[in-house]
Amino acid sequence: MELYKVLEERRSVRKYKPEPVPGEKLEKLLEAARISPSWSNLQCWRFIVVSDRETKKKLASSMPDNNPAKRSVGETAPLVLVLCADPKESGDQDDKDYYLLDSGLAMQQLMLAAHNEGLGTCWVAWFDEEVARKACEVPDSYRIVALSPLGYPEKQPSVRPRKDIGEIVFSEKWGSPFKL
Ligand SMILES: Cc1cc2nc3c(=O)[nH]c(=O)nc-3n(C[C@H](O)[C@H](O)[C@H](O)COP(=O)(O)O)c2cc1C
Repeated sequence: MELYKVLEERRSVRKYKPEPVPGEKLEKLLEAARISPSWSNLQCWRFIVVSDRETKKKLASSMPDNNPAKRSVGETAPLVLVLCADPKESGDQDDKDYYLLDSGLAMQQLMLAAHNEGLGTCWVAWFDEEVARKACEVPDSYRIVALSPLGYPEKQPSVRPRKDIGEIVFSEKWGSPFKL
């Protein structure tokens, strides 16, 4: 698929078909994450691919009931990804915790590759980290940055609104309207 089409069409998917994710597709997605850029190329991320029904239920139990992605993690998606990162394996220049950026970029590359393969994902950050840690036996030195369901979307979700370019881009100086 053309890159701009992938960027435009990707949505957070919260409803999944039960069909399994083919191994060769999963491999492509993980490869997309593996080659992502990172602070000093330190690659602080680790991914756990969860297919076990009980573990998925435990991960869902880390999410509040009103998290709209809860059912996809606990019941409908055939796989759940757990994004972990070691803050010490990245930089924190000027108090900016680059492990979040490194792992977020890797996850985004994976999510775009997933859409390109006809698969859905949803970034999930609203969960209890310690409950998720126990579910997957993640060592204390790693933060659990996100979860994501992974599978074939039941349907393409509708487009969420975005701010206009004029609201988020300036020319030359802060506040000066953007001109091409
Ligand atoms: C850092 C981050 C955390 C998020 N956490 C959740 C979450 O816990 N549950 C959920 O259903 N969606 C979550 N989302 C998905 C956003 O709600 C979604 O990206 C946004 O509404 C835009 O919709 P779209 O991804 O379909 O374009 C999260 C997204 C990001 C980037």
